[in-house]
This record gives sequence, structure tokens and C-alpha cells, in this order.
Amino acid sequence: MRFNLYLNMKDKIDKFFEKVNKFETKSSEKIEDFRIEYLGSKGVLKQLFTEFKDVEPKLKKEIGQALNNLRNSATEKVNELKFSIEGSSNVESRFDDLTRPATPIELGSRHPISIVKNRIIDIFSRIGFTVSEGPEIEDDWHNFTALNLPEYHPARDMQDTFFIEKDPDILLRTHTSSVQVRYMENNKPPIRIISPGRVFRNEDISARAHCVFHQVEGLYIDTDVSFADLKQTLLYFTKEMFSRSKIRLRPSYFPFTEPSAEIDIYWGLKTETDHKITKGTGWLEIGGCGMVDPNVLKNTNIDSKKYSGFAFGMGVERIAMLLYQIPDIRMFYENDVRFLEQFKSVI
Ligand code: PHE
Repeated sequence: MRFNLYLNMKDKIDKFFEKVNKFETKSSEKIEDFRIEYLGSKGVLKQLFTEFKDVEPKLKKEIGQALNNLRNSATEKVNELKFSIEGSSNVESRFDDLTRPATPIELGSRHPISIVKNRIIDIFSRIGFTVSEGPEIEDDWHNFTALNLPEYHPARDMQDTFFIEKDPDILLRTHTSSVQVRYMENNKPPIRIISPGRVFRNEDISARAHCVFHQVEGLYIDTDVSFADLKQTLLYFTKEMFSRSKIRLRPSYFPFTEPSAEIDIYWGLKTETDHKITKGTGWLEIGGCGMVDPNVLKNTNIDSKKYSGFAFGMGVERIAMLLYQIPDIRMFYENDVRFLEQFKSVI
């Protein structure tokens, strides 16, 4: 009796196999009928699996495998047939109306901050500077103490800080000078790096200031580096970036540089906008700079008797606003496509 059942089932499965393999159609309804007939909840396979329960244990493996194969073949057949008719109907629809307008290709554009940042990197890389990057979340040492800003130093107030944790202090970096500290700790002079990156300051947001912005800071350390080298480097940058050839270094104070200066470029007074952005003076401040304070070199284990260096820092938004005449810094972060699209042609 059981022997018969086995023969019976094996026979049935083989016959169904043949049917499945032979089945061909180009109609999607027929494919669906076929699917229901074989794979549906009351279909052939369901029935065979029910019968399978009565198969003698030692034959179960063989019959089981045959059943699985049948199910796979039926599934494959359905997919194959569906694919063949979908493919062909797509081809038809693609060519059915040749006058139909094409789907527009939406080209993206680079963000103006990236455009300016990349230009600055490019200009400095031509005179041997390489890019060095570091973390946005910093500790007190790299953002402040190593830069000659010990705890309770009043100059810490120059940069209002977002603290993440207190004791030990973990914070969002207020400038990318922190990257320079990391680089000095891990590399020996000569050093020639620029550090572009995002920085954070706890400031009120307005048309001219934001609590998140971008900087590019530069550092040059070698034997016999002088203030004249700094000035020449900045002049080269000004010529390349702004096509202006007059700069002015105004005495200033930064804890990590001595002497320190603000960098002004002579923008000119040709148009009304020139008058407006330079407040009628023709001069524009673009950043800070100075000779690296020997204390900073000591803090990063660089021999301050043998080596000297200069550093400078500037705001990327500031420069982008100048170059593209952008009236409000907040426009950079709103990601309004009408604003961003205007930079499509700029690379
Ligand atoms: N780190 C300074 C700032 O963020 C800029 C600066 C860099 C000034 C290097 C001098 C030298 O304001």
C-alpha cells in the first residue's frame, strides 16, 4: 500500500515537472492562472505536500527533494514568463511616442562653501601646503590649553564655546587651530599644512554671524621663518583668490601668535556695493594671523630655539559672501534649491 503511494507520488511529480517545463504563454492572465494552479493556497504543490505526510519515512528524503525541485521550477517559470512579457511591453512603450519630451536630467551643484573651500585648498596646495583634518569634538587641551590659553585665561572669552561635558572639558571646536596642535604633536618640522573644517561658537545668529561656520587655517613651521614669509604668502593668496594685490596687516592679539595681526585686503571703491561692504573705506578684513608663539611650539614638543613659524586663519563663509555678493550668511544653511542652483556653473 505504502509502496504504491510512493510510486504514485513519484509519477505525479514527474508528470507535473514535464507540464511545468513545457508551459509557455505571453498572456499575463495565463501566467497568473498557472501560478494559482501550482503555487496557490489550494494548488498542486499544496496538495502534494499534504500527501507527502503519508510517505514512508525512508523515502521521505527523495520525495521531499523532488517536491522542492518542483516548487522551485514552478516559481522560476512564473518569474521567467513575467519578466519576458514585462520586458517586451516596456520596449513597446518606450518607442510608442517619439515626440514625447525627454525626462529632464537634474544635475546637482556644489555648495558654495565647498566651492570656496576647494579653491582655497587649491591655491595653497600650489605652494606646497597639504590638507590636514581633525575631529569636530575636541578636548580642552587641543582647542585651548596647548594654544597658550590656560584655564581662566581671559582670551577664552573671545570664542564662546559649546561644551559637551565638563571636567574634563569636551567641547565643539571653536577653530581649526586644534587640528594644527594635533599635527604638531605627531609630525616634525618642516610643517606646511592647511586645515579646513567646520567650527562652532555660541553666538547669536544674524545676517553676518552664525554659530556654525567654516574656517581654513594655515600653519608653516621651519627654520628661519619670518614675518615677511607670512606677508608674502598672504599676498600670493589674495592675488589668486580675489585678483587684488594690496593687503594690510593690522596689529592685533591672539594668544597663540606673537606678534599677531588682522588681515585686510584692499577691495576697492568702484561700485556702490564696494562702498557698502567696506563701509566706505575700501578695506576688508578676511582673517587673523601671526608668528606662532614659542609656548605653542613647546606645548607640542617642537624646539622653539631651532624652529619658528606662522599661522593664519580665515572664515570660508565670509570669503564666499564677498565673492558671490551674498547678503546673509544664513542662506548657506537653508539649502533652498533656488539659492544653490545658482552655483551650477561654478566649479
Ligand atoms: N584661530 C583664530 C580664530 O579662530 C584665527 C587665527 C589663526 C589667528 C591663526 C591667528 C593665527 O579666530
